Amino acid sequence: MDPPPRRLAAPLLLLLLVAAASPAARAWKKDEFRNCNQTPFCKRARTRAPHSLDAPLSLAAGSLAISPDGSISAELSHPSRPRPLVLRLSALPPHALRLQIDEDYSTATPPHRRFQVPDVLLPDLEARTLHLPEPKTAAGVSTVALSSDLDVVVKHDPFELTVRRAGSGDPVLSFNSHGLFDFEPLQVSKPEEETWEEHFRSHTDKRPRGPQSITFDVSFYGADFVYGLPEHGSTSLALRPTRGPGVEESEPYRLFNLDVFEYLHESPFGLYGSIPFMIGHGARASSGFFWLNAAEMQIDVLAPGWDGATTLETGRIDTLWMAEAGVIDAFFFVGSEPKDVVKQYISVTGTPAMPQQFATAYHQCRWNYRDEADVDGVDAGFDEHDIPYDVLWLDIEHTDGKRYFTWDHSAFPNPEEMQRKIAGKGRKMVTIVDPHIKRDNSFHLHQEATEKGYYVKDADGNDYDGWCWPGSSSYPDMLNPEIREWWADKFSYENYKGSTPTLYIWNDMNEPSVFNGPEVTMPRDVIHYGDVEHRELHNAYGYYFHMATADGLLKRGEGKDRPFVLSRAFFAGSQRYGAVWTGDNSADWDHLKSSIPMVLTLGLTGLPFSGADVGGFFGNPEPDLLVRWYQVGAFYPFFRGHAHHDTKRREPWLFGERRTAIIREAIHVRYSLLPYFYTLFREASVTGIPVMRPLWLEFPDDKETYNNGEAFMVGPSLLAQGIYEEGQKSVSVYLPGKESWYDLRNGSPYKGSMSHKLQVLEDSIPSFQRGGTIVPRKDRFRRSSTQMVNDPYTLVIALNSSNAAEGELYVDDGKSYDYQHGAFIHRRFVFADNKLTSLNIAPDNLGKKKFTSECVIERIIILGLRSGAKKAIIEPGNQEVEIESGPVSLRSGSSPAAPTIRRPNVRIADDWTIRIA
Ligand SMILES: *[C@@H]1O[C@H](CO)[C@@H](O)[C@H](O)[C@H]1NC(C)=O
Repeated sequence: MDPPPRRLAAPLLLLLLVAAASPAARAWKKDEFRNCNQTPFCKRARTRAPHSLDAPLSLAAGSLAISPDGSISAELSHPSRPRPLVLRLSALPPHALRLQIDEDYSTATPPHRRFQVPDVLLPDLEARTLHLPEPKTAAGVSTVALSSDLDVVVKHDPFELTVRRAGSGDPVLSFNSHGLFDFEPLQVSKPEEETWEEHFRSHTDKRPRGPQSITFDVSFYGADFVYGLPEHGSTSLALRPTRGPGVEESEPYRLFNLDVFEYLHESPFGLYGSIPFMIGHGARASSGFFWLNAAEMQIDVLAPGWDGATTLETGRIDTLWMAEAGVIDAFFFVGSEPKDVVKQYISVTGTPAMPQQFATAYHQCRWNYRDEADVDGVDAGFDEHDIPYDVLWLDIEHTDGKRYFTWDHSAFPNPEEMQRKIAGKGRKMVTIVDPHIKRDNSFHLHQEATEKGYYVKDADGNDYDGWCWPGSSSYPDMLNPEIREWWADKFSYENYKGSTPTLYIWNDMNEPSVFNGPEVTMPRDVIHYGDVEHRELHNAYGYYFHMATADGLLKRGEGKDRPFVLSRAFFAGSQRYGAVWTGDNSADWDHLKSSIPMVLTLGLTGLPFSGADVGGFFGNPEPDLLVRWYQVGAFYPFFRGHAHHDTKRREPWLFGERRTAIIREAIHVRYSLLPYFYTLFREASVTGIPVMRPLWLEFPDDKETYNNGEAFMVGPSLLAQGIYEEGQKSVSVYLPGKESWYDLRNGSPYKGSMSHKLQVLEDSIPSFQRGGTIVPRKDRFRRSSTQMVNDPYTLVIALNSSNAAEGELYVDDGKSYDYQHGAFIHRRFVFADNKLTSLNIAPDNLGKKKFTSECVIERIIILGLRSGAKKAIIEPGNQEVEIESGPVSLRSGSSPAAPTIRRPNVRIADDWTIRIA
């Protein structure tokens, strides 16, 4: 029998009630944000039926021509338009097609130019475009060969463009196949019967330039799923259909950079950053579509049958793209492999910046570390508890009244000394610098920005005045290169008093966040440099701010110190300026789970350096959640613990000895893998292939992996799966590929191409090394990554069924740009025929700068070795070393499990082979 309920003491009862009510109190404020139906261009575009225009978009006969620059030009006419549109098609090797459509500014009289986003596409793009051959036209269809295996087919009336495989004629991507194209013409003056004003809540958008939205459909052939379009909260890696049969909640994916208080872990509403890039993938094809446009965008993923068709075509995904303003400047990328699609996108928007070594280690943040004593205490706490960390962060409270570039002198009287003390242990600090500038006439930055006219202007031409952390604030106009220069100069040691060479920067609130603005951001009719309306560039404001800040750190270090700038807002191209994170998440299990698809999506869309706040920003994590978050976070490319100021302190040692030990172990896993992570960042900085990868990026043919958002790869060699439920007892982990996998903790082998039901362990999450790979580690723990520089390496060789394996190690000075001039070590380790060989794979044409290292390999662990060999011979030198049984991981008490070559002491900088005798 149940015991009778006991009466709860009143205060306790109250507490429970408050706790029960808090999820509601702490909820996303849906009403603050516009949905598609409240957004006229979206509503209009979305309700139009396919092919419903009386006289559809058509290509003017005879207008198709090759331009002197090798691109193709043509005129498009459309019944809703008084003037034709101008089309330009150009090709970029190897497999990208660029489509531009804009007003015709030469003959007609549009009232002004539409905004074309500057400084995102690489400057050498035009120089790289191919000279296209003459189109072949017959019966209203023109065909242009793009390469030996691709062509583009242009139907004139109605206009439709298809990229095909030349041999088979199989389509890969198409544009306007469903006749949904619309391009609202700029109007010279407002027709009397129309109103251009739009209202949302208490805000009025005057829309002085009238409607100017653009809509079109794009189809991905051979795709089972589409991915991309950050940033949204989602536990699904693939983008779910947003319209059509079976779709209940019908909102398109929204790209509109917003500061969303307590965002949902599952919602198509836009968050802090926007990248209008989508990847389609299936067993038959991989392709991508990127639309360079910084206005609000809404994108529908259409479920089969959305158009009322009864015979459903499979293997094709239709999408609808809608933007409030701008032009069409779009890129079609054709695989064949999904990695090729990522590389093609990167070839247009730029390779990711190579981070400094310290930035790839663990970061400790909180809003706020109160004062110098607090900073001291936290720093000492890590040492006392034997937990490494590299960076201590200061949030907004460190400033004098939220005036960035200043210090609260009572809390931080000696900032330089504080930084030097931290730097003494090889650590760094980060301070926050946001774009809202306090409108205080005694604040030099405000004085200067006002005098120089550097603020964004409101619709009446005055400095725009919005409300943010400091109260009344204005925002520098980062679209203007001169203002970016000015901003960059503020980071010099002279201008930023109290900063030292070990201080780096965090850009928050750069969507921009405006507390009293429509949807917590800037009104759309605010005016930027060049008479650009905010609506046209909104999604790129944070990008320019990030750019100017990163340029500031670059200048500060005289071009020799790689900047570290973390940004909350982002856009296509942000990878060139630094790291991003998934913003103000919450301390619940669902947010831990959604962090994986979110970080994977950022990686696929060019941003390899990202992570989610470990522990969750809002709310207090259950200690078990915090522990699980550290175990997952140790694999995020950007690994930072952070917390809201209303939360309880949560430094890693505050939850009892057992949990401290587990968190220490999770952070140790990251530190031991730092050589591997750094090698992956190198790869990302050259190719754009992300550090953390969806399984299908490595196993593109394995359908089981296509919508797996719970497990992830770190590089080509490691697979991990988080534990996303409280008290979970067992977990099913799918291991792709034919080869075996080895448990990172103890080397136990697991078969590939199947799911394994595993017991959930308290002290780690399931993580495996793939057979056929070699992973470099450093297994000695110091206070910070900087102090590990001279430590010896461990190599972990996981053999595959042909007794072979391969892996890489990249090392440079960890901070400067000398690597661009040849100063690095890049080795490939190859194990085959019972022999491990170290090969130099650094190209020798980069420059004269040299980097060398005395570091040696102190241990080589071989998983899956079948011979019982006891000795190995090192060449050159013919030196004999023992093979013993040794532990696979560093965990205390882990039992000897794998053949280990002890102290071969070969240098990582040298060529050598080690033969198993
Ligand atoms: C085993 O690994 C080596 C090195 O990565 C690779 O060349 C070989 O194809 C792999 N063998 C199998 C059967 O996958």
